[in-house]
Amino acid sequence: MTRDFFISLSQNKLLNTTAKRWGLKLGARSVVAGTTVEETIESVKELNALEISCTIDNLGEFVFEEDEAIQAKTQILEVVEAIHEHHVNAHISLKPTQIGLDIDYNFCLENLTEIVDVANKYNIFVNVDMEDYAHLQQTFDLMNTVNQKYHNIGTVIQAYLFRADDDIKHYKDHRLRIVKGAYKESDKVAFQYKKEIDQNYLRLIEYHLLHGKFTSIATHDHHVINHVKQFVEENNIPFEKFEFQMLYGFRKEMQFQLAQEGYNFCTYVPFGSDWYGYFMRRLAERPQNLNLIGKQIFNR
Ligand code: FDA
Repeated sequence: MTRDFFISLSQNKLLNTTAKRWGLKLGARSVVAGTTVEETIESVKELNALEISCTIDNLGEFVFEEDEAIQAKTQILEVVEAIHEHHVNAHISLKPTQIGLDIDYNFCLENLTEIVDVANKYNIFVNVDMEDYAHLQQTFDLMNTVNQKYHNIGTVIQAYLFRADDDIKHYKDHRLRIVKGAYKESDKVAFQYKKEIDQNYLRLIEYHLLHGKFTSIATHDHHVINHVKQFVEENNIPFEKFEFQMLYGFRKEMQFQLAQEGYNFCTYVPFGSDWYGYFMRRLAERPQNLNLIGKQIFNR
């Protein structure tokens, strides 16, 4: 019930638009690195100093106008340039709808190709985040098309989807991020129970670690992390073949600890004025994150 409530708040366009004018509020500062590229690069440098690499996401939702998509593309290209200029250890995460997937597939493809092309010149990887099921097939199509020419592109497999088993096999030669899945999907396409999702999540991770290219295990779940640690040891999987990922501001001690233990660790660093939907989805996943709001209100 709480999950559905926050997911519906995240989809409220009016609140989304209004929040852009607020600056980072409601505790969002603890999970969003800043509103500008400069602030974000500073946060990335701090994480890099702790042996943590970063994937930078320029937040953006509800893009239905071409000029908004072009603006998002321009900002992402600014981040690519900044990564190169500051020599930071970071790559790009982006959402297809932000660069025009809801406007026109080919327009989005052009924008994505331009970003991947520039990133490729600097040897920077681009991860195409996976959004809701309605956008899934087009997201795979975008990646497949761009991948014909460039190899610095990968995407995400969501363990709550029934089709994830087939997808992980189909895309085994790609660098993949594997997640449980953040959107509300119907029981026609997705597991609804946590236990089933968690079991499928481990199955997919194990498959890609054994048979796939590089694996990003994106979770805050210490049960999964402990399982992976044991699995890689038992199966002699070298550390270069995988990394753990967590979101900026979550389980900071554990992020640092894993990096200290010698595991590749990458923090997902979101930034920008369009923080509202992202923040509501984090509350949907874990209502305890409401503490963040509480702290912000009482720490004024
Ligand atoms: P989950 O919420 O299942 O919690 C499991 C257990 O972990 C909890 O019971 C608790 O014990 C512990 N735990 C979790 N969070 C904690 C915290 N903050 N503090 C202490 N303990 C905690 N989704 C998507 O659909 N598309 C995408 O592209 C991405 N990309 C992405 C990138 C990265 C880097 C991450 C970390 C996540 C995503 N996701 C995503 C989101 C993902 O699908 C999923 O919704 C969330 O990660 C929540 O699931 P978890 O596995 O993290 O823990």
